Amino acid sequence: MCGIVGVLGTHEVSPIILESLKRLEYRGYDSAGIATIEEGRLDRRRAVGKLVNLSDKLVHEPLAGKSGIGHTRWATHGGPSEANAHPHRSGGVAVVHNGIIENYAELRRELAARGQGFESDTDTETVAHLVQTQIAEGQSPEEAVRHTLERLEGAFALAFLFEGEQDLMIAARKGSPLAIGRGEGEMYVGSDAIALAPMTNRITYLEEGDCAVLTRTSMRIIDAEGRETRREERVIQIDSALADKAGHRHWMAKEIAEQPVVIADALAHYLGEEAASAGPLTDFDFTRFDRIVMVACGTAFYACLTAKYWFEQIARIPVEVDIASEFRYREPPIAPRTLAIFVSQSGETADTLAALRYCQGKAHILSVVNVPESSIARESDLALPIHAGIEIGVASTKAFTCQLSVLSILALKAAGDRGMQGADQLAVHHADLRRLPGLMAQALNAEEAIENIARQLSEARDILFLGRGAMYPLAMEGALKLKEISYIHAEGYASGELKHGPIALIDDKVPVIVMAPRDNLFDKSISNMQEVMARGGRVVLISDAQGTAADLDGVWQVITLPDVPQIFAPILYAVPAQLLAYHTAIAKGTDVDQPRNLAKSVTVE
Ligand code: F6R
Repeated sequence: MCGIVGVLGTHEVSPIILESLKRLEYRGYDSAGIATIEEGRLDRRRAVGKLVNLSDKLVHEPLAGKSGIGHTRWATHGGPSEANAHPHRSGGVAVVHNGIIENYAELRRELAARGQGFESDTDTETVAHLVQTQIAEGQSPEEAVRHTLERLEGAFALAFLFEGEQDLMIAARKGSPLAIGRGEGEMYVGSDAIALAPMTNRITYLEEGDCAVLTRTSMRIIDAEGRETRREERVIQIDSALADKAGHRHWMAKEIAEQPVVIADALAHYLGEEAASAGPLTDFDFTRFDRIVMVACGTAFYACLTAKYWFEQIARIPVEVDIASEFRYREPPIAPRTLAIFVSQSGETADTLAALRYCQGKAHILSVVNVPESSIARESDLALPIHAGIEIGVASTKAFTCQLSVLSILALKAAGDRGMQGADQLAVHHADLRRLPGLMAQALNAEEAIENIARQLSEARDILFLGRGAMYPLAMEGALKLKEISYIHAEGYASGELKHGPIALIDDKVPVIVMAPRDNLFDKSISNMQEVMARGGRVVLISDAQGTAADLDGVWQVITLPDVPQIFAPILYAVPAQLLAYHTAIAKGTDVDQPRNLAKSVTVE
């Protein structure tokens, strides 16, 4: 989950690396560091905490050099300290690493037995020592790196610099993504193409087991079998939206606000005129499948849980949903004629990727991703982009609603292919979907009311979210959003499940957010809400005008949303859930875009 960058440049690289690291800070922000080679000598600067601390340090202790590597860390082995910050070095070797070296303890013992001292608690430092030891024995940097790679177990993306070598960088990947960028007489390495966007759009993705030996003008790639190989160079279009927050205080606020636009964009790609004859789903046929398995993590998992209701109710196809970290080790039998769907914003989540690989050869693999160049997209039989644009806030918002939008289109396609809905019914659903961006814009108008409620929620220690039917996964998503950025304990429950235990938590200090559009389950949700209020619980009811106009004696607060067709309610109701979390976090004064202990891209298991 860390971010790594490398530059063999023609100008001073520290500022360039710092700028790239800024673009990777979403991957982790426990510490950061840069190493460069200046007149053949290796030097480095590291600082605990966010990148700004490293940037301050570089003002007082500048780091010269036209070759360099940089790192922004999400701590795995060893706490966030300067000693544990990357780049790690051993003699004349410096390395940055994203991933986990699983056999590091064994390697460390072996090195220690040979008298090697350690200055950090990290798994990465062992890699630097292994390479340095072999160089000391007379091997070239390339030989030393390749022999070291043979000894490493786990997942890694690595970039190395070597003292005395101004025009050499070696990079390698296994499990964690790595992109090589080519410039004019310059060469770059980055955890993703976004990091390299200010320098180049000519990107080569390394594949599993690849090792790249780079100079400013050449790139030699050696594959897992030790053969020299070529990888395709692509020209990547990077979203310019990365440039600024468009007047918003936080990325999360910007990303919540832009949902009407990005959803409209996603819908245009799937339901626009061209989509009928040449859209991403034109040749896809659901009659090939008898069942669906959906796998994801976190917010993407809740998108899958919501889609299960759609696939089962509208398309009458059974769906099993699992968390990727459980699925991958559960080794579930995969029946013939299974469609396996993997949902991931980043497309790099280690557990989701491993689950996908488990299904390869057993099921047809479809992914729903935000990053079309990601590992999950590239390893799928069909990758459906969600067109959310780059999402920078660590708490996922617009990616979630775009995932839901694409999954709802997929469910409707399944219903059509399987003969469960006729063309007329589908046309009505599609027309309803096209109205969704407008409804989302209206839902955003509730922001001021939500802000007032959130101020009061910020004083709570525990908050419950309740929902029924497809609003149940949204209740869990609302709770996740709230806890990850406000650090208030929150849980999402199916409304009908409350009396089987969680109702014991209710008293006048526990706010309960009830998500209940006026649908066929509304009366049941209201009965559950009454049970909460009878025990002193403070209820915030989120519903439509008809729902909030009902006889609601005792309800503490209401949030009124526009009417929405029942199927698409979870997409619309995501907006108040996100805004509640956002404004509660603001009221608490937490770091909304970079909440503690989290990272945007989870490339370790
Ligand atoms: C929560 C959040 C995470 C991610 C999860 C999966 O706001 O963002 O729960 O949804 O880490 O990430 P992706 O979608 O990149 O696979």
